[in-house]
Order: sequence, then structure tokens, then C-alpha cells
Amino acid sequence: MAKLGMQLLLALAAIAIAQGATTTTHLQFYMHDTVTASAGSPATAERVVRGTAPLPGTPINRFGDMYIVDDPLTEGPDATSRAVGRAQGFYLFASRSADQALLLSGNMVFTAGEHNGSSVAVLGRDAILDEVRELPVVGGTGAFRDATGYGLLRAHSVNFTTNNAVLKVDMYMSV
Ligand SMILES: *[C@@H]1O[C@H](CO)[C@@H](O)[C@H](O)[C@H]1NC(C)=O
Ligand SMILES: *[C@@H]1O[C@H](CO)[C@@H](O)[C@H](O)[C@H]1NC(C)=O
Repeated sequence: MAKLGMQLLLALAAIAIAQGATTTTHLQFYMHDTVTASAGSPATAERVVRGTAPLPGTPINRFGDMYIVDDPLTEGPDATSRAVGRAQGFYLFASRSADQALLLSGNMVFTAGEHNGSSVAVLGRDAILDEVRELPVVGGTGAFRDATGYGLLRAHSVNFTTNNAVLKVDMYMSV
């Protein structure tokens, strides 16, 4: 009887550990933020609010500028590499300083591969001139329901005349 009880307890403990186990996923992809369209590449980010106050160090951007985005996410830095999802949301020039920090808010929705149909919600401060920017994960859906974690953004290439950029994104998520 006592032995059976102990076995039951051990079995329950094993289930609890299995249920409590977290898995950490690292995803790397590239985000193509095209503000200025050119032949063959339509704009994927559009300015929907124009700020009034100029910002130091940039002739283009103003405090309060807001862009709505639906950027393709691809496996590699080339825009023609395999599509893995979309980054949908907005960014807002939210700093009056020369750091050009954005408030970035949106969802990374995956449309291919093992995470197809799942999404990750992010909300963070993106100081666009910094080499590495950290993006808090505030939640997710599907495979990433209740996810915690962060992303690291790095510029792969930026054109400060057109404001077009390719960003390398590393997401680290625990579920
Ligand atoms: C992703 O999932 C959708 C919905 O199930 C499906 O229609 C689509 O073909 C899938 N995409 C890929 C690339 O597997
Ligand atoms: C930025 O884009 C402009 C307009 O397409 C182009 O003339 C210029 O060469 C580009 N600059 C760089 C550094 O690629």
C-alpha cells in the first residue's frame, strides 16, 4: 500500500515536472522595411502621421512621425529568400533626442515552417542608430501562447535617404 502510494506520488511529480518544463526557441530571420518604393519592391511601411518638430541629425524624420508596417520576414537577408512571415504593426518616433528612438509595437506572424500560424507580440524601444536593440516579447499565439522572451534587432543594411532597411532579427522565446 505504502509502496503504491509512493509510486503514485513519483508519477504525479514526473507529470508536474513535464508540464512545468519550458522550451526555449531561437528564431533568426530578416525583416524588410521598405519605406520608399522602387521598381519591383513596393513600399511595406507607410507614414500615416507626420510630426511637426524636427529631430537633430536627420533631415527626414520628425518627432511624432508614425508608420504603419506590413513587412515581409524572410529566412535570409535577400528579399527573394524564403518567406517565413510578416511583421505587422506600427512604429512611432517617440524621442526628441538625436537617438531617434522609436516605440515599436506589433506582431510577428509566421506563415511557413514549423511555426506557421503562430505569432509573437512585441512592444519595445528601438533606438534606430544603436547597433543592437532589444525588443521585449509581450505574448504570443499558437505555439507561442504565453511566451516570454526578447528579440535582438540589428541593421543588416540601411539607406538613410530612402529610410529603407533590412533588419536581422533574433528572437529568443520560452514557452
Ligand atoms: C501555413 O498554414 C496555412 C493554414 O493552415 C496553409 O494554408 C499554408 O499552406 C501554410 N503555409 C506553408 C508555407 O506551409
Ligand atoms: C540610397 O537610395 C538612393 C535612392 O534609391 C540611392 O541613390 C543611393 O545610392 C542609396 N544609398 C546607398 C548608400 O545605398
